[in-house]
Amino acid sequence: MRTSDYLDNIYEHAQVYPTQKPERRAKFYTGPVKNIGTGETSFLKAVVEQTSDSVAQDLQTEATWNIQVQPFAQELGVVIPGVESHAHTFKWVLFNHIEGSPIAERELEKYIEKIAKLCASISQVPLGREPNGLGGWMKNRLGRFEQASASEHVSRHLAEQIIRAGESVDDSTIQAGTAHGDINLPNMLVSDQLGDDIGLVDSEFGTLRTKPEWDKPRYHDAAYFYHLLYVQYQRPDLAEKFKVAFEKEMRLSPDFDKETFEVEFGFSVLERTLSMGNHHIFKRDRNKPVSDPRRLEPGPYVQLVEQSIQAISR
Ligand SMILES: Nc1ncnc2c1ncn2[C@@H]1O[C@H](COP(=O)(O)OP(=O)(O)O)[C@@H](O)[C@H]1O
Ligand SMILES: [Mg+2]
Repeated sequence: MRTSDYLDNIYEHAQVYPTQKPERRAKFYTGPVKNIGTGETSFLKAVVEQTSDSVAQDLQTEATWNIQVQPFAQELGVVIPGVESHAHTFKWVLFNHIEGSPIAERELEKYIEKIAKLCASISQVPLGREPNGLGGWMKNRLGRFEQASASEHVSRHLAEQIIRAGESVDDSTIQAGTAHGDINLPNMLVSDQLGDDIGLVDSEFGTLRTKPEWDKPRYHDAAYFYHLLYVQYQRPDLAEKFKVAFEKEMRLSPDFDKETFEVEFGFSVLERTLSMGNHHIFKRDRNKPVSDPRRLEPGPYVQLVEQSIQAISR
């Protein structure tokens, strides 16, 4: 099967051949391949041609995160694809292939508690260094969203509150935790073969032991999925159910404190909601599809910002 000279070259180096047409996604070529060495199916993720170094870096992050979290996978109830091989420069990585399909939107309800547990367990994977507060990440992120004040959907009062939240946040009081970074339905695979486990892929925005400067808050994954339930899937009812299940998991940790939980979760939801640059109702980016529900229907979006502002100002 001919693909492109670039990809053929990678296949040759990885000692694999494609079993179907590779999917060309935004930054990567992905797809199942046959490993010539083992005869097994593997999963290749390769950076597209003429891409920036930061994309190769994302792939490297993904491979490193998987290696880091793998030893805990079994007790987390997840299958994280191991790394079979990779190019020196991480232009491509060969992962174990996971037999499964992404959780379907219509199955969301069934998986809510399981996903809550998954987010809770991942957040507790040891960072491999002293537990610490964030080093300025939240302040930096919230400070970026002054454009919200220019949106017709946001009252002046709310815009001022957003800006004040950015100015007042004290990162040192927000505890960092291990995060996957992209807990969304397409990245969670299920199948008969996986049984009760979830196959978790695409950790390119994960937290790394070696990069404290990329630390994210411990509720980052849960806050992101909560955000998606609320504004992308437009199921605030499921979002609440998810949060209740997540909180229940977090209560098992001996240092749980309800007030701290609400504030840290609120900050994370606010950050996640404001940071959805591509889907942001506050931005009028004409290159982005307007069919995304988050751009079509500003109601839940603004509601969620208001709600998280309230949670953090208690
Ligand atoms: N190791 C794997 N085994 C089986 N399927 C995978 C594997 N990794 C990814 N996939 C499938 O391919 C899709 C795209 O891969 P992903 O790593 O999520 O790329 P992207 O960064 O483009 O979202 C996933 O949604 C999943 O369905
Ligand atoms: Mg993905």
